[in-house]
Amino acid sequence: MLERIKETASFLKNKMHTAPETAIILGTGLGSLVGEITGKYEISYEEIPDFPVSTVEGHSGKLIFGKLGNKDIMAMQGRFHYYEGYSMKEVTFPVRVMKELGIRTLFVSNASGGMNPDFQIGDLMIITDHINQFPEHPLRGKNLYGDRFPDMSEAYSKELIAKAKKIAREKGIKLQEGVYVGVQGPTFETPSEYKLFRIMGGDAVGMSTVPEVIVANHCKINVFGISVITDLGVEGKIVEVSHQDVQKAANAAQPLMTDIMRELINRA
Ligand code: HPA
Repeated sequence: MLERIKETASFLKNKMHTAPETAIILGTGLGSLVGEITGKYEISYEEIPDFPVSTVEGHSGKLIFGKLGNKDIMAMQGRFHYYEGYSMKEVTFPVRVMKELGIRTLFVSNASGGMNPDFQIGDLMIITDHINQFPEHPLRGKNLYGDRFPDMSEAYSKELIAKAKKIAREKGIKLQEGVYVGVQGPTFETPSEYKLFRIMGGDAVGMSTVPEVIVANHCKINVFGISVITDLGVEGKIVEVSHQDVQKAANAAQPLMTDIMRELINRA
């Protein structure tokens, strides 16, 4: 595994003409940030040795290198979800490669169902912490590097959270904050499951991010995460939900999410 990570990283290093310390996983709600990357060069996942290939609708798969504002960045357009059938090792492989490439800060976005009764569809939520409900742990098995029992006391950088809140205040953007519960999917939750996750301490629930954030913490990459609330798992407000509904709500929130991320990445 370590060898594969190094192989993939050295393949990419040969193709890279920058040395970014910032990576972005362009999850739901951040697709349009791609249009703001300048001096772009792209490598599709199929070309990269040992990289999984993404399948789900609305996610195409490539790495994009370039500049966002004044920062050299590397972006993943299309991530690997556990529900697609990838193992946790595959889901988190790109993060391990990022570490090998010298990445120090990772920005992630996703879509989620809001369980906090104060939330509305279209709200943006800074992820302050998570609860891992995936059935397999990405660090299970031989410890490749770093701590066998990694600390998770500040999985999401407090410094970046404070900066994001400051930016939102300056721009007059409403930001929620809360705990993201990561589940395997692919079903959305039953009303009783939303209720359970709320009682557990969750504000929103979704099917991604947690594996990548665990691995980023293991390799000492700072993390900032933001989620767009695309549907509500709040008693009395639960209605039928589809992938199209999620995409629609995420697209509507996209300009604000892009605005905050762009600014935060520049100031980070
Ligand atoms: N549950 C799980 N994942 C999600 C949801 C949800 O309600 N909305 C968007 N992704």
